[in-house]
Amino acid sequence: METAARERKKVVEVRNLAVSIPLDEGLLTPVRGISFSVYQGEVLGMVGESGCGKSLTSKAILGINDKRCKTTGEILFTQGEEVQDLLKLKYGSPEIRKIRGKSASMIFQEPMAAFHPMYTIGDQINECCLLHITPDKKAAKEISLDMMKRVGIANAEKRYDQYPYEFSGGMLQRALIAMALVCRPSLLVADEPTTALDVTIQAQILDLMKQLQAEFGMAIIFITHDLGIMAKMCDRLAVMYLGKIIEEGPVREIYKNPLHPYTRGLIASVHKVGTHSQEKLFSIDGAVPLAMNIPDRCGFYDRCKERCGRCDHGEPVPRDTGNGRRVSCFLYDGEEAHD
Ligand SMILES: Nc1ncnc2c1ncn2[C@@H]1O[C@H](COP(=O)(O)OP(=O)(O)OP(=O)(O)O)[C@@H](O)[C@H]1O
Ligand code: SF4
Ligand SMILES: [Mg+2]
Repeated sequence: METAARERKKVVEVRNLAVSIPLDEGLLTPVRGISFSVYQGEVLGMVGESGCGKSLTSKAILGINDKRCKTTGEILFTQGEEVQDLLKLKYGSPEIRKIRGKSASMIFQEPMAAFHPMYTIGDQINECCLLHITPDKKAAKEISLDMMKRVGIANAEKRYDQYPYEFSGGMLQRALIAMALVCRPSLLVADEPTTALDVTIQAQILDLMKQLQAEFGMAIIFITHDLGIMAKMCDRLAVMYLGKIIEEGPVREIYKNPLHPYTRGLIASVHKVGTHSQEKLFSIDGAVPLAMNIPDRCGFYDRCKERCGRCDHGEPVPRDTGNGRRVSCFLYDGEEAHD
């Protein structure tokens, strides 16, 4: 899957991305220099404990983080033959607006918060169309209605004129997907898109996203806490911890043979079908430290059962371990430095 992905076009390449936020207590740096690429037609999953920087990373790509956030690095976005560093575009400039919503869009966890309660669903989907595709109102409405039907909204003509409160949670999430996809973006960021839905609807929405991705060939960055959903949806996985990607590679390879002690813990903590329900699930002791005044050592040091003296001296950097895999851990440095 990795090889296939690499033959395809790179849609976005993130280089050494860091996001910091000045607080009264000091400088918080929840994203601490991460690099990854997403290719046309692939789904890159991002997983990691709450607070590890997944949302800040994905929102940085779309340029929608809080104005207080200071973002550095490069976000190289490909549009046709042109590659632009999104971080060099001015906040709110016509260039960034041309990309956001049109070539790159986002689906949020909470659809109710994404829609304005005072405008009809149709108008809100249509706004994107009018802005980016055609100024012709009739033509734009046709395109919006078509997309509403594509995402499985029955009776779309009637639904078009309804308000968000008239939609159920699942229907609203479909409408949000329609809004995100109506301009056929080349990159879609889905930040826990099904967490707020019940399991049956969740499965329907995930199937729908897979189907539309196959049809439109877009690249997706998919964020979820659910490793089962990751396995179903993603081609590659980026495991984040304390603002860094600590392991990356094809999803099946990682599930079969997780390398980083944190990834091993994550996978071991998932309940496997066939195990006895009384069996205690594995859990990783401790919590993610605050991303402030971080000591110069492995970020997982305090919680790692495999740490050695060396892990206390500097942070491990990502190393290629073959088959498109990378891991940041001194265990894979090729030296037997353990106590
Ligand atoms: N605007 C902000 N002001 C202050 N702190 C923030 C802000 N946005 C994010 N943070 C902090 O930065 C860290 C990373 O946030 P982020 O939302 O990226 O986490 P996440 O990995 O998406 O977590 P979750 O899985 O809970 O959604 C968290 O500790 C969060 O509290
Ligand atoms: S570098 Fe050391 S402390 Fe960090 S995950 Fe690897 S073994 Fe554990
Ligand atoms: Mg988040």
